[in-house]
Amino acid sequence: PVPVIGIDGPSASGKGTVGARVAEALGFQHLDSGSLYRLVALAGMREGVALDDEVALARIAAALPASFEGDTVFLAGDDVTNAIRSEACSVGASKVAVLPAVREALFWRQRAYRRAPGLVAEGRDIGSVIFPDAPVKIFLTASAEARAERRYKQLIDKGMPANMDDLLSDLRERDARDSQRAVAPLKRSEDAALLDTSEMTIQQAVDFVLQQAAA
Ligand code: CDP
Repeated sequence: PVPVIGIDGPSASGKGTVGARVAEALGFQHLDSGSLYRLVALAGMREGVALDDEVALARIAAALPASFEGDTVFLAGDDVTNAIRSEACSVGASKVAVLPAVREALFWRQRAYRRAPGLVAEGRDIGSVIFPDAPVKIFLTASAEARAERRYKQLIDKGMPANMDDLLSDLRERDARDSQRAVAPLKRSEDAALLDTSEMTIQQAVDFVLQQAAA
C-alpha cells in the first residue's frame, strides 16, 4: 500500500508548514485537509448560506470547485490563498466541520490523495477516520499561547489585521469546538506519536517526523 504520514493536531500547531516540508523532502503528495473545510466555509459565505445549513453545505462540499497549484488555492478559478486564511474562514471552517454530512462529502476527496510514492496529510482526523491504517501518525501540538503567537506572526507577515487577544480567544473557542464535537473530535489516537512544538523550531519538528517515517 502507498505510505501515508498523518499529522493531526489543534489549530496553528504548525501542521501545515511541517507537513509541506516533510512532503517536499520525501517527494510525497501533500494534503492540508483544513483547507478543504476552509473552502467550504468560504464558498458558503459567498453564496449567502448559513454556516449551520447542513444540507446546503454538504452540497457545496460534494461539488467543491477547488484546485491547488503549489501553495496557491483556487475556488472556481479565483485565487483564494489568503482569503481562506482569514479569521472569518478559520472560525467558519470549524463551524462547517461539525456537520457530519460535510465531513462525509469530503471523505472520498481526501482518500483520493493517496497516490504513489506517498502522501503527507494533516488535519484533525487523518489518523482516526480518513487513513486509520496510516503507518506513521503524529499528533502535533503546542501551548495555546505559542500557537496564538505563531498565527499572529503569519497574519502580520501577510499584511493582514491581527490582534493577539482576539486570536487567543478564537483559538480557545475553536479548540473547544474541535475537541467537543460529536463527529471526529480532535483527540490523539493511541498509536500517534506525540510532538509538543511549543519550544521547537519548525526544522526540529520536520526532523522528528522524518525520523518517525524512516523508523
Ligand atoms: O490552520 P489551522 O490549524 O488553524 O486550521 P485548519 O487545519 O486549516 O482547520 C480549520 C478548521 O477545520 C479546524 O478548526 C477544524 O474544525 C476543521 N478541520 C477538521 O475538522 N478536520 C480536519 N481534518 C481538518 C480541519
